[in-house]
Amino acid sequence: MSKKIVNVASVPQRSPFRYPGGKTWLVPHLRAWLRSLRRKPECFIEPFVGGGIIGLTVAFEDLAAHVFVVELDEDVAAVWKTLLDGNAAWLASRIVEFEVTHESVRAALSQTASSLRERAFQTILKNRVYHGGIMAHGSGLIKFGEKGKGLMSRWYPNTLKNRILNIGELQNKITFFQSDGMEVLRANAHRSDAVYFLDPPYTAAGKKAGARLYKYNELNHEELFRLTATLKGDFLMTYDNAKGVLDLAHRHGFDTEAISMKNTHHAKMTELLIGRNLDWFRSMIQSETEQPFLFPVSEKTTDPHFEKHPGT
Ligand SMILES: C[S@@+](CC[C@H](N)C(=O)[O-])C[C@H]1O[C@@H](n2cnc3c(N)ncnc32)[C@H](O)[C@@H]1O
Repeated sequence: MSKKIVNVASVPQRSPFRYPGGKTWLVPHLRAWLRSLRRKPECFIEPFVGGGIIGLTVAFEDLAAHVFVVELDEDVAAVWKTLLDGNAAWLASRIVEFEVTHESVRAALSQTASSLRERAFQTILKNRVYHGGIMAHGSGLIKFGEKGKGLMSRWYPNTLKNRILNIGELQNKITFFQSDGMEVLRANAHRSDAVYFLDPPYTAAGKKAGARLYKYNELNHEELFRLTATLKGDFLMTYDNAKGVLDLAHRHGFDTEAISMKNTHHAKMTELLIGRNLDWFRSMIQSETEQPFLFPVSEKTTDPHFEKHPGT
């Protein structure tokens, strides 16, 4: 197992979401995987995109010619559509001009959105003022927040504006589909020029994590593994490190590695990487051991609109 824990402060934050189960910690491994391939993929497909730090990194760092991202949740989809359909500047202004108070937040969230872009704004607001960024039914407003800052503790309007405008600039590089990720896998399985990053919602037996985090949290995992085995292109999958998942992976002849990461509460956990061949990961770990400061901590930022916060 990898003993090194990625310092997420060294990874550029590009998503406007603070997403439960977000994969910022995986970014250095994503780069290593894609660079290990014989050629740059024509097409990077992410069928369960959520907050999208992985797909966004691929697009911003030009690690594939085109990025296709897919999400089923209507609210999350509203954000992706707005970012990529020419309304990014509108969304950025709406955020910067909004003054967060208990009253304004309640008023904004109690209305039915009159347009897709207003729904996108409501989603970002909810994501920032709800506990843990959890937007699923049963979640609620942050009470105390970081350093007692309450509702404002995750509201960074200028940072959000910059991330949103930057994504808007990539509208020719990223395509979003509001769809079932499984269907997208089925439809593209024959493509040899595509690679896939799969981060499905998962609830380990006896745990309720996935069920509390997302509106859409039920998935036929057996079917996902069966479909993944039919993909012509390479893939990288992440799952909870649970016995049932390991069994599924090994039954399909996939390679697995456990990896240490820290969750949002800074608790150390292990997740599972699954792929056809994870030699690139083992080489990466080997070279990190020889060169332990590969991802140095930096307190500085070049973003002129930097607002001091932990990143997400
Ligand atoms: C583990 S999260 C992905 C987190 C993402 N990797 C990130 O870094 O933000 C899984 C996502 O899959 C979405 N989802 C659930 N079922 C889906 C389906 N059948 N098709 C597409 N997306 C789905 C959920 O709404 C959730 O956003």
